[in-house]
Amino acid sequence: MSTTGTSTIGGMGHRVKRKEDPRFLRGKGNYVDDIKLPGMLYMDIVRSPYAHANITKIDASKALAIPGVLAVVTGKDLDAAGLAWMPTLMSDKQMVLPVDRVVYQAQEVAAVIATERYIAADAIAQVEVEYDPLPPVIDPFKAMEADAPLVRPDREQKTNHIWHWEAGDAAKTDEAFRQADVVVKQDLYIPRIHVASIETCGCVASFDRVAGKLTVYMTTQAPHAIRTVFSLVTGIPEHKIRIISPDIGGGFGGKVPVYPGYVVACVASLQTGHPVKWIEDRSENLQADSFARDYHISAELAANNDGTMKALRVKTLADHGAFDAAANPSKFPAGLFSVITGSYGLEAAHVAVDGVYTNKPSGGVAYRCSFRVTEAVHTIERMVDTLAQQLKMDPADVRMKNFIPPEAFPYKSATGWEYDSGNYPAALRKAMEKIDYAGLRKEQAEKRAKGELMGIGISTFTEIVGAGPSHTFDILGIKMFDSCEIRVHPTGSVIARIGVQSQGQGHETTFAQIVAEELGLPVENITVEHGDTDTAPYGLGTYASRSTPTAGAATAVAARKIRDKARKIAAHLLEANPDDLEWQDYKFQVKGTPGRSVGMKEIAFAAYTNFPSDVEAGLEAVDYYDPPNMTFPFGAYICVVDIDRGTGQVKIRRFVAVDDCGNIINPMIVDGQIHGGLTMGMAPALLEAITYDENGNMQQGTFMEYLLPTAMETPAWETDKTVTPSPHHPFGAKGVGESATVGAPPAIANAVVDALSHLGVTHVDIPFTPWKIYAILEEHGVAE
Ligand code: CDP
Repeated sequence: MSTTGTSTIGGMGHRVKRKEDPRFLRGKGNYVDDIKLPGMLYMDIVRSPYAHANITKIDASKALAIPGVLAVVTGKDLDAAGLAWMPTLMSDKQMVLPVDRVVYQAQEVAAVIATERYIAADAIAQVEVEYDPLPPVIDPFKAMEADAPLVRPDREQKTNHIWHWEAGDAAKTDEAFRQADVVVKQDLYIPRIHVASIETCGCVASFDRVAGKLTVYMTTQAPHAIRTVFSLVTGIPEHKIRIISPDIGGGFGGKVPVYPGYVVACVASLQTGHPVKWIEDRSENLQADSFARDYHISAELAANNDGTMKALRVKTLADHGAFDAAANPSKFPAGLFSVITGSYGLEAAHVAVDGVYTNKPSGGVAYRCSFRVTEAVHTIERMVDTLAQQLKMDPADVRMKNFIPPEAFPYKSATGWEYDSGNYPAALRKAMEKIDYAGLRKEQAEKRAKGELMGIGISTFTEIVGAGPSHTFDILGIKMFDSCEIRVHPTGSVIARIGVQSQGQGHETTFAQIVAEELGLPVENITVEHGDTDTAPYGLGTYASRSTPTAGAATAVAARKIRDKARKIAAHLLEANPDDLEWQDYKFQVKGTPGRSVGMKEIAFAAYTNFPSDVEAGLEAVDYYDPPNMTFPFGAYICVVDIDRGTGQVKIRRFVAVDDCGNIINPMIVDGQIHGGLTMGMAPALLEAITYDENGNMQQGTFMEYLLPTAMETPAWETDKTVTPSPHHPFGAKGVGESATVGAPPAIANAVVDALSHLGVTHVDIPFTPWKIYAILEEHGVAE
């Protein structure tokens, strides 16, 4: 790849300032709540105080008597229209509004439509709902018992068990375990957490009765897929549905599913003929949607006494709440959890996962991770350290010994994934040098002698991102490819429309850089649009770090199609044979004659004013890119913690993150992705967890209890990189958006256990709250 002259173009590898920031910094962003349409009505939602109850009566008369209240929509109203249930992304079905039973606390029960937001909010308190409470089941292990309350009597199968899924080779794994010198075993719980985007979910649904067209401005990460599903569910023809996803204040996977509020707002607009706005408030968002993780894992790792890892066996209970609405590709009910062998060359592995219903809101959103990779990485990285501790080996040595060697790529993992490229020892060596690993181990020994608690934790993770090849990945049958359409205007400026949808990742900048690099046109003259199904080409949306591997690739290929046509026009202008031209320094030149050349700006003008007779006018192309494989970014993270013996508080003193996402489009944006991801990875390690009492009452309903990290807790992240291009991606890039969220928690977990390992501690589940750690210190007699 040539980089000559890119500073004037702003192509690949340049720290181009984000094009979207001027509007955000000036308060000119256009979020869903900024949309105001004439005659717009407002919706608010009545929610269940019970986790499990029959609804015996809904009396809306007092609410309807409030001036300004136009309607109260209930499950019975939706049932009459065949819309009381909707499909989930995992081919389950989910209540939009319940007809007779609620199955989790904060579930949507009815919706009030009013002329003012505040009237709607007042009116929901006046909707009288009578409940007959039922015993809830909250613990997924209890939910699997024969006499457990049934969460979903609507299903044919009268059990809370949803599915059983396996990957890998059980017999080969058993055999490897039999032959191993040592087996380490560990149970882990990855708690339920919440996405907690700055912007909550919401929409403005606007049905035009004359045109018969439904336009929905909504906080979604996947507008086209939503349009198709809306059309299939409502019967409205797809060309009469327009989904607009304007600026989005953070998605992180939480804005992939369809939540009941969206559907009820659409129904309300269809019924009233008015636009209807629904915006969740913070507590509703925190209590009802955007939940992730909740995996109970039991792992065993077999190895030889010299630390050579042989096989991995993992059993998992996945708590999906009351509906299986997890955002996983159809073929993978447990997501990509089977990438659990990580960066290590194991002989065999076997993974079994059981999904289970409980009386909680549905979980399983791919919160800043590629469909359950976070859970997989946490497991294997903890298991490597557990083995090192058992064998009294340095965890860095165990990793170095077991890494898939660089020359083994493309590498087929024991669970069937083909890793595209990697150089794991290089990344770990770089991280160890940067942090002075040997020096830290010395310091730790000295501190231990003085009774101080210091820990060093490593995580050398491999991600799997860029879903996907269409032969393997689909969502509800829609194949996972992605797209870009590029149009070059006569004066050489460009509009590129992409099938993915940014929620803060800076696509308007990086995708313009891809076009700039491929066409040799300056980045400032390239506009990138996305998020409007009436204009953007069909795409599957942005989540799971898939944008660069899929739509990024489509953008490069579409630009290359334009370049192919441009070659013919250039030949015409240069009076040469197209085969005699070469693309050099962002220009077509006659081979070996740099003086005879023409750039894309001139070619663009000629495409409309002076094109050869055998070439169509105009300069545009579209590409739907179906990647041949996923991309496998990786990293080596090292974390140093100090634990306060007086309070149990864990302080991250240093954290070095060496990431490899192949060739980088914009290093500044990648740095930003990693810094944000590290903080979001630190959060569940130290602070965040959603829990429920035995009645299904959520215990972290506000940010007073659900502790998000602030600048106070966030250390100064030290980042670095190695570059191992993807061999199959058109410009060698891999995704990066989620690497840090995935890699950080086990580095912190390993550091905390390392700080306590000399006391005999072998595992602690995240989050490492001061009270949890202090109890461990007390138990071991080292609390102050
Ligand atoms: O799908 P999502 O945009 O969340 O994830 P991504 O494809 O990993 O990209 C996150 C941001 O980093 C985007 O603006 C990418 O274009 C940028 N990026 C980059 O500059 N170089 C890479 N090799 C990968 C991503």
